Amino acid sequence: MKIQQSISLKAYNTFGIDVKAQKFVEVTDQSQLKSILEKNTLSLLILGGGSNLLLTKDFDGLVIKNNIKGIDIVVEDNDSVTLKVGAGENWHRFVMYCIDNNYCGVENLSLIPGNVGASPMQNIGAYGVEVKDVITKVEAINLKDFSVKEFENQECDFGYRTSVFKTSEKGNYFISAVTFKLSKHPKLNTSYGAIDNELKEKGITNPNIKEVSDAVIAIRKNKLPDPAQIGNSGSFFKNPVVTEGVKNTILQNFENAPNYQQPDGSYKMAAGWLIEQCGWKGKMIGNYGVHDKQALVLVNHGGAKGSEIFQLSEDIISSVQQKFNITLEREVNII
Ligand code: FAD
Ligand code: EPU
Repeated sequence: MKIQQSISLKAYNTFGIDVKAQKFVEVTDQSQLKSILEKNTLSLLILGGGSNLLLTKDFDGLVIKNNIKGIDIVVEDNDSVTLKVGAGENWHRFVMYCIDNNYCGVENLSLIPGNVGASPMQNIGAYGVEVKDVITKVEAINLKDFSVKEFENQECDFGYRTSVFKTSEKGNYFISAVTFKLSKHPKLNTSYGAIDNELKEKGITNPNIKEVSDAVIAIRKNKLPDPAQIGNSGSFFKNPVVTEGVKNTILQNFENAPNYQQPDGSYKMAAGWLIEQCGWKGKMIGNYGVHDKQALVLVNHGGAKGSEIFQLSEDIISSVQQKFNITLEREVNII
């Protein structure tokens, strides 16, 4: 365990932003983490895969890159398996492990970048599934007194792209492991988005979880830029949730505006559609801009500053506010 000084974070964030960290260390187990935390007096940035953040300036503190690995079976019977997974495991590799073992529940979350430890932070979601549906516990280390706490699912206060770790407990914990309960009997969810179409095109009528995962991967590859080729952090903004009245006002002028009724009677509007209507889709400002296939994704084709991408996000928020009177909220963490 070596503490490095003044290193570039370019390789550690999927936007590919080149800023420096004053100090940087990778930890592979809890005891290493505790000994680092006990001595540290600097401000902290905990880093997983760096796929949901925008670095806007050099970080004058200590970056801890989480590499705590391990997948352990806690309990298993004929119907389900409960797995405790180290926070530093790569999310997609964990999904592939589940598919190889026919453990069901995370197949719709295939190909989401980042680490297992960040998955509860914003309650990752895609294609009709959220990770809260399969999480039973989150193990986390208190950054003040280094005690270990197990948060039960209910205590995490999960919501759309949010949890207690992003709100009231923000900055207070290092997530060290996540426990998932997965089913051994496939209960597939293929009705969302284009999954059914994708399966139909391949002539698959009775899919298994691998085929659902493959369909999700194909859809995602078609729409979302691969961070290895084009810097990005996925959806930069959340889809706004509005009242029925606001939704109806928009539909009066734009009858095709995508909207999805929520269980509480509110409506989720598609931020990508709103941004596209404001003329941003595919717009480039030099080497950065708005993705041409998905206006919710801001992109860095190389060399952009985080502050420039942040300003672009401000400009997008202003124009959506002006045209639709809706305030977009960022999904990406601004550092
Ligand atoms: P990081 O970016 O490293 O960290 C994110 C935040 O969590 C930071 O504030 C960090 O300090 C904090 N953090 C990270 N690890 C820990 C820890 N162990 N303890 C405490 N705090 C921690 N998200 C979705 O929900 N659905 C999608 O479909 C989706 N698609 C994406 C597609 C692309 C191409 C990209 C680039 C991103 C996408 N994302 C999506 C966003 C992102 O992949 C997820 O939010 C992912 O969970 C982030 O994981 P990470 O390890 O990279 O987190
Ligand atoms: N749309 C447009 N123009 C665009 C983009 C989208 O009109 O430029 C329309 C689409 O035609 C569709 C609607 O908006 O009618 C929704 O688009 P899409 O299905 O692509 O999904 P999204 O709402 O833009 C969300 C998540 C993604 C997740 C997908 C699939 C958020 C903020 N984003 O995107 O998550 O993968 O659904 O479930 O909820 C992420 O969080 O980083 C992320 C990529």
